[in-house]
Amino acid sequence: MDSDLREELQEALSPAYTLEGELPGGGMSRVFVATETALGRRIVVKVLPPDMAGSCNVERFRREIQLAASLLHPHIIPLLSSGEAGGTPYYTMPFVEGESLRSRLFRDHRLPIEEALRLTREVAMALDYAHRRGVIHRDVKPDNILMH
Ligand SMILES: Nc1ncnc2c1ncn2[C@@H]1O[C@H](COP(=O)(O)OP(=O)(O)O)[C@@H](O)[C@H]1O
Ligand SMILES: [Mg+2]
Repeated sequence: MDSDLREELQEALSPAYTLEGELPGGGMSRVFVATETALGRRIVVKVLPPDMAGSCNVERFRREIQLAASLLHPHIIPLLSSGEAGGTPYYTMPFVEGESLRSRLFRDHRLPIEEALRLTREVAMALDYAHRRGVIHRDVKPDNILMH
């Protein structure tokens, strides 16, 4: 099952992208790092694995793709492309080099006040932008805040 997903994903992404490894920490999705051959950069592929691909999840994931595609903001990771692999949807986005706020807090326990304020402001601006477009995140948490 596992290598099947990887193979089908690689087939769908060839020759534009080459899968490299998997990132931990996806909820119902699986998240892979890949190289975009033509541009020599790393990207991330997020896919709904077949065992999660009930019709409700697929619909939700497709909506995530549509919404991600509609948002363009400096503090929201943009969508690059999307498609289907082995009957389940996937999308690609730039690879954010850095870490999540969750792993940062796990390491440092607390942030310097200036950094905490800056981060809060940036997240608030991104959410405000989305809200003005009728998009509500519904899962704002340190794991979902990636720091560049
Ligand atoms: N563009 C990205 N760059 C780097 N890491 C990422 C990227 N997207 C996701 N990740 C990593 O993968 C994890 C899971 O991705 P996420 O989109 O939150 O999946 P889910 O919706 O299943 O929780 C994130 O917490 C983060 O660590
Ligand atoms: Mg998440």
